[in-house]
Parts: sequence; C-alpha cells; structure tokens
Amino acid sequence: MSDATGLAGKKIILGISGSIAAYKSAYLVRLFVQAGAEVRVLMTTGATHFITPLTLSTLSKHEVWTNVLNEQGWNNHVELGLWGDAFLIAPATANTLAKMASGQSDNVLVAAYLSARCPVFIAPAMDVDMWFHPSTQRNLQQLIADGVEVIPAEHGELASGLIGMGRMAEPPHILENLRGFFRRENPLQGKKALVTAGPTYEPIDPVRFIGNHSSGKMGVAIAEALARAGAATTLVLGPSKLDPKHPLLKVIRVQTAQEMYDAAQAVHAGQDICVLAAAVADYAPTQAATQKIKKKDGDLTLTLHKTVDIAASLGAKKRPGQIHVGFALETENETTHAREKLVKKNFDFIVLNSLNDPGAGFNHDTNKVRFLFPDNKAIDFELKSKQAVAADIVQQLVHLVQK
Ligand code: PMT
Repeated sequence: MSDATGLAGKKIILGISGSIAAYKSAYLVRLFVQAGAEVRVLMTTGATHFITPLTLSTLSKHEVWTNVLNEQGWNNHVELGLWGDAFLIAPATANTLAKMASGQSDNVLVAAYLSARCPVFIAPAMDVDMWFHPSTQRNLQQLIADGVEVIPAEHGELASGLIGMGRMAEPPHILENLRGFFRRENPLQGKKALVTAGPTYEPIDPVRFIGNHSSGKMGVAIAEALARAGAATTLVLGPSKLDPKHPLLKVIRVQTAQEMYDAAQAVHAGQDICVLAAAVADYAPTQAATQKIKKKDGDLTLTLHKTVDIAASLGAKKRPGQIHVGFALETENETTHAREKLVKKNFDFIVLNSLNDPGAGFNHDTNKVRFLFPDNKAIDFELKSKQAVAADIVQQLVHLVQK
C-alpha cells in the first residue's frame, strides 16, 4: 500500500508525436507502469512511423488512440482529458508545439490537450536549429504562459548527426519531473495515517445490537482526503454502507468496539497520524446471548460493561512526533466537554461537532465544526460538506507535520 514512487494510482495521459525520440516512449510507459501509474497513450500519425501502437498498448495494457475517429465513431478525447492527473507529451515535436500553442486540434493528441484540465508537461525533441528557431521559442513561451510545464530538451548528439540542444530528456529524468510534481501535490507523501470511522455494533443476541446513528461519512471523507494527500492510510471502519476505494487506502471492517480497538492498536505504533472519528459505543452487553432472546412478560434487564476507550488508550501510548486528532460529539456545554476530552485523550487538536447545529453530526452530508487546540486556541468553520471539513482537517495536519 505504501507509495515509495509517488506515482502509485496516478493517471497519466501520454501523448507521443512524430520524432525519432518516440522509441524512448516505450521505456517511459514501462517506468510509469512499474511505479504503479496507469497510462493511456495517444499518438499522432507521425509517431506511428517511429513506434507501433501495438508496442505501446502491450506495455500500457490499454488501447492506444491514433485518431479522433475510430471504426465505431469517435474516441472520447474529452472524457480522457478529464480522466488524467497529468498529461505528458513526450516527445513533443516543433509541429506539435505549434499546434498546441495555436489550438489547432486536427489530431487526437491536441484535441485531448485542449480538453485536459490536469497539469500538462512537454518534453520537446527536435533538431538544434528547429529548437532555436524563433517560431519554436515563441511557441514555447506561449505554452509556458498557458501554464504548460516544460521538461527542458537536453544537449547531445541528435538524429541529424549534429551536436546541440534538442534531445528529448531521458525517460528517468521525465519520470522524476512528474514525481516531483506529485510530491508537491501530495504533502503527506511517505506518511502513514490511521482513521477510525463509523459506528460500532455491540451484540445483545444474534439479531439485536447496541449501536448509534453514525454513517461513517465523516471518517471516510477524512481517510480519502489523507490518501489523496499521499498518506498510506488504514481506515478501521465500523458497520457502514460506504465502500471507499483509493490505491493508498486499506479498509479494515469491524463490528464492535473491541474489534475496532484490536485493529487500531495493531497498527498504531507505525503511524504518523491518527484521526479518531468513530462513534464508539461506550457500553456493551457483558454477555451476548447465543440464541435470540425470547419475549417474556415483564422487563428485560441488560448488564452493560464499559468498552475500551480507543482514543484514550492509544493516546497514552502516543510517541513523540505522532499526531492524534479526536472528535467530540456534544449536545450541551460543548466547548467545555470537548476541551476535557482534548486533554484526557492526549489529542493534538479536537474537532467539535454539536447536535444543536442543524446539518451537523450524524449521517448528514454536511458538518459544522470547531477545532480546539491545547493552547486554548480555537478555529470556527461554517457549515460545509464533510469532504470540505475533511480537507480543513488534512490542511491542519499538514501544518502540524511540517512544523
Ligand atoms: O459518521 P457520520 O454519520 O458522518 O457522523 C460523524 C460523527 C458525528 C460520528 C463524527 O463527526 C464524530 O463526532 N465522531 C465522534 C463521535 C463520538 O463518539 O464522540 P465522543 O465525544 O463520544 O468521543 C470522543 C472521542 O473519543 C472521539 O474521537 C471518539 O472516536 C473517541 N472514542 C470514544 C469512545 C471510545 N470508546 N473510544 C474512542 O476512541
């Protein structure tokens, strides 16, 4: 699950235009795939004279598009443009640069470029005089102004036999450029995070349990945001309908407080960040009946025992450098109760949500929270989606990690 390459799960669109350097694109695809990225290849007609689409589809394990049209209709370059996390054009010839700079979309590569919303990288390749020609330099300047990142051409022997600028950057160098970009995008790259989420169900008998209204939405949003920020994330999830997926996310499903504790404490020591967002039952039946309890005259008395406090127990073992974030779900004297939990459970900050705020707490798609810190500082947020609350929490975590 850990992402040593910084490219695991990343979606790369690779556009190849017609240069002798196109033969290096096969190696480039291989490097991306080995690093865990998914690659979709687009080629200009010129590129197909230098390397076959079959080679690239075999390496990328996806069909390669060489045309906007196909036998059934058209290749949906708009959808592809929106799919990518990054669009790399390597090699980018003088002709392709000119088309990109002027928006002339008469091939599938430039059509997809115009549709792409992700960052675009070009690795130019051409002969030295073409490289230094004012029109090429003008087009490059235009592309830089349009937000395209140039992976500079290198100096060396060219296909013409001349020595000079214009060689496409070597594939490992191109890979390193994209890795650097994703590192900047993924501030928690290399970190490990643990999140507890959802309710717990404490069995009374085989058909009944003590539970609560937690849907898991808040904790799942946090786990997904941590994974998107590059952290290898373990989500210990109580009974929830949600089914989150991300290459950096490992989901461990549990039912009871004890199971949640066992799963969390087994991985706790290796974590950099722990976010305890679960609504854990505080009491559980001391003895769950093995058969369904039959209805009888009179009342039924259940004996409950206190469950393990996961946050407090892990908080007591917190090692220097580890960051623990907790939640407080309150109905009265909210800030006072939350502050008590902040101290008692050894949190670095606590996220308070109150059932008195409309749209906050259990099951809503929104939440309204207040962050409370040990130095008495507090930050209030307006009502927003649970995804946006998760982004605020991750931003605060990045700040603490980098401190
Ligand atoms: O899942 P959703 O429907 O999206 O709802 C989100 C939420 C309301 C469940 C969430 O935002 C939230 O507030 N989670 C914590 C709920 C809670 O149980 O709060 P508490 O004040 O009782 O617990 C304080 C802290 O101790 C929490 O971090 C909790 O995870 C932790 N705890 C509590 C008891 C226990 N036995 N073990 C714990 O780890």
